[in-house]
Amino acid sequence: PTEMPVIEAELTDAPLVPAPITRKHPAKVVVRLEVTEVVKKLADGVDYTFWTFGGSVPGKFIRVRQNDEVEFHLMNHPDSKNPHNIDLHAVTGPGGGAAATFTAPGQETVFNFKAINPGLYVYHCATAPVGMHIANGMYGLIMVEPEEGMEPVDKEYYVMQGDFYTKGAFGAPGLQPFDMEKALDERPSYVVFNGSVGAMTGDNAITAKVGDKVRLFVGNGGPNLVSSFHVIGEIFDKVHPEGGSNVNTNVQTTLVPAGGSAITEFKVDVPGNYVLVDHSIFRTFNKGALGMLKVEGPDNLAIFSGQTEQKIYLPEGSAIQEMPKSETPKAAFASNKDMRMELGKTLYAQNCQACHQAEGQGITGAFPPLAKSDYLNADVDRSIGVVAHGLEGQIKVNGEVYNSTMPKIKLTDEEIANVMTYVLNSWGNKGGEVNLDQVKKAKA
Ligand code: HEM
Ligand code: CU
Repeated sequence: PTEMPVIEAELTDAPLVPAPITRKHPAKVVVRLEVTEVVKKLADGVDYTFWTFGGSVPGKFIRVRQNDEVEFHLMNHPDSKNPHNIDLHAVTGPGGGAAATFTAPGQETVFNFKAINPGLYVYHCATAPVGMHIANGMYGLIMVEPEEGMEPVDKEYYVMQGDFYTKGAFGAPGLQPFDMEKALDERPSYVVFNGSVGAMTGDNAITAKVGDKVRLFVGNGGPNLVSSFHVIGEIFDKVHPEGGSNVNTNVQTTLVPAGGSAITEFKVDVPGNYVLVDHSIFRTFNKGALGMLKVEGPDNLAIFSGQTEQKIYLPEGSAIQEMPKSETPKAAFASNKDMRMELGKTLYAQNCQACHQAEGQGITGAFPPLAKSDYLNADVDRSIGVVAHGLEGQIKVNGEVYNSTMPKIKLTDEEIANVMTYVLNSWGNKGGEVNLDQVKKAKA
């Protein structure tokens, strides 16, 4: 046998990945992965009993080099209630190691494999009922770097999608049990990146600087859904589709199969927030599959200018006329409360209803209600500010926590007065009239 160096594998939790491999020769790599069954957050106020490779979902990221000999140890924590095993798609051999690693609670199993094919591979538990073990979070990624190594980049991150099936609907609070019927019907209550709603937003967002080359190791544990992975505002300069050796260039959205992967690379040229989504888009805005990449640095106006003009467009005129902002067109000017209500109703349908719904009832977990909203009624000026400036961060409305983003709504001060008067006098809210002065003061 050859004299190979023995290396203990560095394992990381998402969104981090182990350092790139600089070795120019194969090694014997020892991987020690511990299975635990743990209660963790699935969303704000929602807990779930996850079954994990290494304590969180997705499982630890493993990074080896082509032709490395891997000595794989699977430990199942004594507190586990179930046996588990592992099928690594990077393994050439029966079950990807599943039978060789079938491990009862409090036991450890070991097997060896040679990583002969380079690529980004999914691993997962394959213990019956397999779908349930995967649905509970038993998946992760192993990167087998090609012999020639990977092109250096500035930032590398680990992103893995999964679908979750809870007895309660999206956002229903408390410890939620697994729902086999929803899983069989492929009707997830949650679709998330890195194991929970919000795992990659706010303070958990991934970051880069203008000019950085970013590489995302993207996986999809499923168990059911195929992901249409997309980053809003970016184009992937390169994609290794399905985690293989081919390279596609200039890609907008890449498919990530259940039990599959993709490597995406892009240079960030413009500062701002870039949103990671499954472009099967209800999953993003209503089931949790939303992550954030925050890019800081100087503007690059040649590539992206931002809005440079906003003006009134009069299609019937021979020329487009610009109007001073303060002057509201006559037709949209309300001189009393009834007119505010009438104009406000139309404004509501055009600007708010898509999210807050026709009767102001909102969508639990995604868009807070305006009907009988304690948040709204407690402080009308604050709510005027929400419409004028947008809102980001955690708020509580009628006992439900919302931690999302409302865009700034582009309305004139008159229009804000009208729509707020309409909202205040609808669906059980406290009434009153909002006038121009109040809007001006509240915005300031
Ligand atoms: C929050 C009003 C349009 C999404 C709020 C709140 C108010 C409000 C008063 C505070 C919470 C509450 O009382 O329920 C309005 C009005 C709109 C409008 C009057 C139209 C003029 C929209 C649109 C969206 C949206 C178009 C979706 C794209 C949200 C979200 C929150 C929120 C997600 C919670 C933000 C957070 O969690 O921090 N909105 N909204 N709103 N709105 Fe709107
Ligand atoms: Cu398992």
